[in-house]
Amino acid sequence: MKATVEPIRWHGDRLELLDQRLLPDQTVYVTCRTAAEVAQAIRDMVVRGAPAIGCTAAFGVALDKGSKESFAVLAKSRPTAVNLFWALERMRKAKDLKAEAEAIFAEDLAANRAMGKLGAELIPKKARVMTHCNTGALATAGHGTALGVIRSSKNKSISVVACETRPYLQGARLTAYELMQEGIPCTLITDSMAGHLMSRGEVDVVVVGADRIAANGDVANKIGTYTLAVLAKRHGIPFYVAAPLSTFDPKIPNGSRIPIEERAADEVTGYRGSRWAPEGVKVRNPAFDVTPAELITGIITERGIVRKPTRARVASLLSRSPAGAASGRRGRR
Ligand code: MRU
Repeated sequence: MKATVEPIRWHGDRLELLDQRLLPDQTVYVTCRTAAEVAQAIRDMVVRGAPAIGCTAAFGVALDKGSKESFAVLAKSRPTAVNLFWALERMRKAKDLKAEAEAIFAEDLAANRAMGKLGAELIPKKARVMTHCNTGALATAGHGTALGVIRSSKNKSISVVACETRPYLQGARLTAYELMQEGIPCTLITDSMAGHLMSRGEVDVVVVGADRIAANGDVANKIGTYTLAVLAKRHGIPFYVAAPLSTFDPKIPNGSRIPIEERAADEVTGYRGSRWAPEGVKVRNPAFDVTPAELITGIITERGIVRKPTRARVASLLSRSPAGAASGRRGRR
């Protein structure tokens, strides 16, 4: 099945990336022929979303035939999504670089479809699903993580409440765009409206993605995710995280050790060249936050669902053989 949107096009000698900075108004591809160009595209947010960054970095290494410099420049592009470092590690061990990058891409698409199928079982009929940031085909090799679960629940007459996701507006620009293309009813809200809607009983379930999951199940995701998790707990609303195994970082014991990217001040003081804040005002712009495992109802992966994540349950999922999942053994309770 062809992806609705194609953020990453691999041609063997070059990589074409859909310029997500220009969406939804313009569909323009940026061509990369070297790892340095790929790293720049990741840094500049031409491509974003944890799994998409991982796939892109793998193709970047392949473009430079696995040079030492390619690994170094790509590792410095963005710090939080562990999928990038996971993909570089796989490429470091690979013999056929192009085949490995293609495999990483294909496996991510398969993982998303598997998560979609598993996750859809958790979504009630006619559910009003809140989501944050963009976790769709644009953020992955296709289908999406949290948005993949939503896509796979399409036949249940669901609707989506998409948080705009200040300051970079991935929700408003990208998630609303993907959902409208897919014909899934979507209502856009500003992030600060989430609690109000929950308090009015207008949200049945929250599903988000992840950029890095620590060994104890703490989840780093787009800034604002933690707020939604606290609100969901307050209102008794299930809060799910959908992420492939490539997003787990078992070397990191808990969320406090996850590196959080700080981005430029002008993303907060204005947008696309405009400025609304007084010049010189002090700004903070952390791009991600950490949601403690205790606020998470379940983590949906391609290998099963980890309910009420703890260190032991995460370890059990990671040590389980993929064949176990195929034979129907699903997440522990
Ligand atoms: O800064 P971004 O746009 O790369 O952040 C993306 C997110 O935080 C997503 O929620 C996360 O990568 C999961 S995407 C499948």
